[in-house]
Amino acid sequence: MNEQERREHLRSARPDTLAVRAGQSRGPEGEHSEALFLTSSYVFDSASQAAARFSGEEAGNVYSRYTNPTVRNFEERIAALEGAEQAVATASGMAAMLTACMSWLSAGDHILCSRGVFGSTTVLLNRFIVRFGVEVSYVDPVDYAGWRSLLRPRTRLLFLETPCNPTIEIVDIARVAEIARAAGAVLVVDNCFLTPALQRPLDLGADVVMHSATKYIDGQGRVLGGVLCGRRDLLEQATAFMRSAGPCLSPFNAWVLLKGLETLRLRMEAHSASALSLARWLQGQAGVLVVNHCGLESHPQHALALRQQRGFGGVMSFELEGGQAAAWRFIDATRLLSITANLGDAKSTIVHPASTTHGRLSESERAQQGIRGGLVRVAVGLEDIEDLREDLARGLAALRG
Ligand SMILES: Cc1ncc(COP(=O)(O)O)c(C=O)c1O
Repeated sequence: MNEQERREHLRSARPDTLAVRAGQSRGPEGEHSEALFLTSSYVFDSASQAAARFSGEEAGNVYSRYTNPTVRNFEERIAALEGAEQAVATASGMAAMLTACMSWLSAGDHILCSRGVFGSTTVLLNRFIVRFGVEVSYVDPVDYAGWRSLLRPRTRLLFLETPCNPTIEIVDIARVAEIARAAGAVLVVDNCFLTPALQRPLDLGADVVMHSATKYIDGQGRVLGGVLCGRRDLLEQATAFMRSAGPCLSPFNAWVLLKGLETLRLRMEAHSASALSLARWLQGQAGVLVVNHCGLESHPQHALALRQQRGFGGVMSFELEGGQAAAWRFIDATRLLSITANLGDAKSTIVHPASTTHGRLSESERAQQGIRGGLVRVAVGLEDIEDLREDLARGLAALRG
């Protein structure tokens, strides 16, 4: 079977097959594992071929800021999993967000952004993107009348994360997609917490999915990466920006992420099962005011999570009695969890959002997002659940002592 036939055959393949087979172009050596092309540039047979490649008259690689076979393999695989026409990989999740803004917006345009987004997303928009004459406003992510009423004539981009970081509210993607469509705006959904293994925003009407591939797609905390997946017309513009501006994914990182996709569903199911079990256990503990995990029946959008997602994910947060002092005491008492802002790692992580990931926001911005001093976020990894429970119990014991 040749390359073309193999690709044709994969068109009808199911997600688990796509996760290990899509986006593989086998070279002349017949290698079974995907090849890693660590090269910045490509050699041409002649001056005329170089000219034809540069002008686009002849298809083929020119320079790795433009295209790289390993990066392309990653883009094809993640696009297949998200059900997207095309993808463009970036150096990090934030580079993906920057690429989205620079590719699709002009001075005078307006972004309507959910309040429940990653801290650096807010900083990028408020401190940098606004300097180019783009207006930004924020909306309570689960206030759909608010999404509608805050639209402006020049609203071009709606942006949301679901589950929200770190408060784990669930946003109804289909409802916001309808609002975006009526306004002629592009809806971008950050799908980093759930990944295509558990949620496919494009199926629900979003135009573009964004990832920090640094998280679950890698899954082992090794590399930074990002990606935008979606409609071909939008992705062509993003590709054009990438080629000129250069926030591109390194081929080595692309290779790591490509292999990460092969085990993504299995890992996401294990993360989700452990997180739900720990969230249930934490809910009844003294000193814990509230546990935020969308798998809990008590979660305000649990029914929506059941409808919209294929699993609940591995991230939860909880608020402790006693504010920041209690949160820090809890975190410092743990022995197994890594105190780090990353998530989506095989190793469980714990962080105090108000003083780290969301520390650059003003107090009022944090208050609007519901990020109080006592809030702790845990991204549950793949360790033995009993060891994790014992570690969280150490944190709780420190609150009493
Ligand atoms: C939900 C979410 N989106 C985007 C990002 C940014 O991704 P990166 O760190 O790869 O730039 C993060 C990073 O922590 C995140 O948690």
